[in-house]
Amino acid sequence: MKNKLADIRKVYMKGSINVSELPDNPFEEFKKWMEQAIEAQAEEPTAFVLSTLSEDQFPTSRVVLLKEFNEQGFVFFTNYHSRKGRELTQHPKVSMNFFWTELERQVRVLGIAERISPEESDTYFYSRPIESQAGAVVSSQSQKIDPNLDLAEEVKKLLNSGEKIVRPEHWGGIRIRPHYIEFWQGRPSRIHDRAVYEKTEQTWLKSRLAP
Ligand SMILES: Cc1cc2nc3c(=O)[nH]c(=O)nc-3n(C[C@H](O)[C@H](O)[C@H](O)COP(=O)(O)O)c2cc1C
Repeated sequence: MKNKLADIRKVYMKGSINVSELPDNPFEEFKKWMEQAIEAQAEEPTAFVLSTLSEDQFPTSRVVLLKEFNEQGFVFFTNYHSRKGRELTQHPKVSMNFFWTELERQVRVLGIAERISPEESDTYFYSRPIESQAGAVVSSQSQKIDPNLDLAEEVKKLLNSGEKIVRPEHWGGIRIRPHYIEFWQGRPSRIHDRAVYEKTEQTWLKSRLAP
């Protein structure tokens, strides 16, 4: 490796957060940040790292894509039999992490995961390109499979069979209902800005955190 990792250093200076000027509703701020990430042409603006807890209490993480959010929570889609699917059924307490490098911003969320209704999952499933629908049917996500199995070929076979593609019951949406949402903005000299919203029975409490 040519560069010493410890010498790679970036000064963050693209923005700031003033906690007292933030809206009372964290979803309002999240909407603004998501729109700005899209405007800034972030490579995958909706991508976030989802962490769940394994049976033996190890956190496990992977990237998934946010497909919807509103006051009820954040929704992504997956195979309920996958590792994440099984883990979040066992332990619904999960964490989410968005990192928009183009804006020097991070959002951290803690919340409780639950399955959305089959009807809501159908709406999204059938809105996807037919190849993606077939992909969800042929892939038993996270299972060990034959190294020689050609999954692209399986998709083709299914599409050519004329068989109607139906959403598998084990494929659908997960909604994460948050109770903690933290906004982080990189600042010079590592004096970053952090604002956290914590849900109480009535409302969201806003605080500033030390960097
Ligand atoms: C940019 C990106 C987007 C992804 N989006 C999803 C997604 O929305 N849903 C999903 O199940 N997997 C998605 N994946 C794949 C997951 O990261 C992961 O490999 C897969 O879900 C299996 O994870 P698990 O074994 O922990 O369940 C995505 C991966 C990347 C890199």
